[in-house]
Amino acid sequence: MSVSPVDLVEAEQVRQKVRAGYTAVAQGNGALAIKDADAQALAFGYDPATLSEAPDAANLGLGCGDPTGGATLKAGDIVLDLGCGAGFDVFIASKAVGPTGRVIGVDMTEALLEQAQATATREGYENVEFRLGTMEALPIEDSCIDVIVSNCAINLSPEKDRVFAEAARVLRPGGRIRISDLVVEKELPVEVQQSVEAYVGCVGGATTKEEYMDLIRGAGFGQVDVEVAFTLSDIVAADDPRVLEVLADAGATYPEEEIVDALTSIKSLSVSAQIGAVPNQDAEGCCGEQASVERRPDSYTELLSYVMSNAVAGEIMAVENYSDMVSLFETVDEKLEAVEQARDEGRHIRQLTALGKRLNFEVKQTIIEPEWKAIRSVFRQAVANQDLPACLIIQDLMTESMAIVLYQTLSGDEEVETDELTATVTGAILADELRHLSLGIDRLRQLRFVDPYSVDQALKWAHPLVMSQLFSSVSTDCATLCDELSVNCGDLDPFSIGADLDLIRARAATQYLTALDAVGFPSEVTAPLMAQLASLEQDDRKIRVVRGPLKCC
Ligand SMILES: C[S@@+](CC[C@H](N)C(=O)[O-])C[C@H]1O[C@@H](n2cnc3c(N)ncnc32)[C@H](O)[C@@H]1O
Repeated sequence: MSVSPVDLVEAEQVRQKVRAGYTAVAQGNGALAIKDADAQALAFGYDPATLSEAPDAANLGLGCGDPTGGATLKAGDIVLDLGCGAGFDVFIASKAVGPTGRVIGVDMTEALLEQAQATATREGYENVEFRLGTMEALPIEDSCIDVIVSNCAINLSPEKDRVFAEAARVLRPGGRIRISDLVVEKELPVEVQQSVEAYVGCVGGATTKEEYMDLIRGAGFGQVDVEVAFTLSDIVAADDPRVLEVLADAGATYPEEEIVDALTSIKSLSVSAQIGAVPNQDAEGCCGEQASVERRPDSYTELLSYVMSNAVAGEIMAVENYSDMVSLFETVDEKLEAVEQARDEGRHIRQLTALGKRLNFEVKQTIIEPEWKAIRSVFRQAVANQDLPACLIIQDLMTESMAIVLYQTLSGDEEVETDELTATVTGAILADELRHLSLGIDRLRQLRFVDPYSVDQALKWAHPLVMSQLFSSVSTDCATLCDELSVNCGDLDPFSIGADLDLIRARAATQYLTALDAVGFPSEVTAPLMAQLASLEQDDRKIRVVRGPLKCC
């Protein structure tokens, strides 16, 4: 996923170009405008009767499928259209949800939204609303949408992971997405990839089908169903003015067979997926995605709730820590990188919360270990001391080491078997945490190169204060689980996440030591610290969430 400050700036630049492209379309100047938009919509599968009722002005021929047709919208549904343009699908959905329902269209191109609003006013649509905003930061409150539709817009986002995380956030549990979008089967010629026209025309920013599916699953969606609606070469000829415009913009000339080949590799997908399990519904499918959510005993879900609530607490702390670090960095690039890291951690919170919706577990405040507060308070002390090395050590080496081991465990450790969705989501988060660790190692190496003494002192100061807290945060005893979580430890089956937490701590210690070595701390500094850790290990063996029956409960 995109993370560097350059990416951040580039993402905004891409949005600006796309906005400019669609503003031109709204003004009737874009190369995308097509003559017979209705004929195209019929080719995409729109119902002729539905189409005849939709306001003509709204169909600019910018879609690439029929997301509302397959969305089985019901009267009373609250629907959100991502990248609604001039509102074509908003108006179609408006009829389906009726006066008791509502349809909200979000788009970042003001000129198109003005057209959409003018159409709504002129034609008397009362249950529609248009909001200016981006798909990456939706101007919509949490958990309030029944169905999200989107037509040929998400491929335009340079930050598709954020779009799906936002979709998961705003959907109510059990809510669905229904998307029509373009993907590419193989890389397009480089000139085409770099062409603004190609981007605005929805092909330059398109990913592969596999990446698209991974992004949806990584945001916590389940029951992901996908089919190829059509291949672009079926409906667009090699000498189509839009193709010629893209090639002219790319400054490229290609033989016709190469153009057809490229068009053949561009597919329009119909994608549907759901957030938040609806009881028993998942079991109905007989194969593939439909049956992918496994039923687990209640104790599994309760324990997952405990682990994830604490993971979210750790992520919240990480958002705060990275945000605080911004002021300690000197260069703009470093500051932006820290902002981006804070944003990654924020996305993890949304991903874990969405996973909770999907698996029906709650992220609870009451079961959060007190150690998070203590670690945060040590970090704030380091910030107050303007001690950047200590901040990096606490967040990037210590906390990330623990997070990495936790997410490694949840994402498919051979010792611990979690459900498939948890494994996918935590696997996606793990990739970010590993990157943060390696960034922290690089930064500390540089700081140590300039001033090894201060960096070593920072480690000696932070280690006893933070590692003892981190270790005891992974030490919930059975009584806590019984009393506060109502988890019957004796019920934890051999495939539950009731792992031997001693093992997790041992792995976190190894991960941490590897990170210290990678920074280049000498063994005379690290050896006494590791000896301290080993003694903590001996003292604090109250972790007893082990497999098999336990005495309490
Ligand atoms: C190909 S047009 C599709 C419009 C509409 N869905 C339709 O079928 O007529 C893509 C739309 O997505 C909007 N868009 C692109 N990127 C966006 C973003 N990051 N946030 C919000 N809207 C975006 C554009 O402004 C444009 O209106």
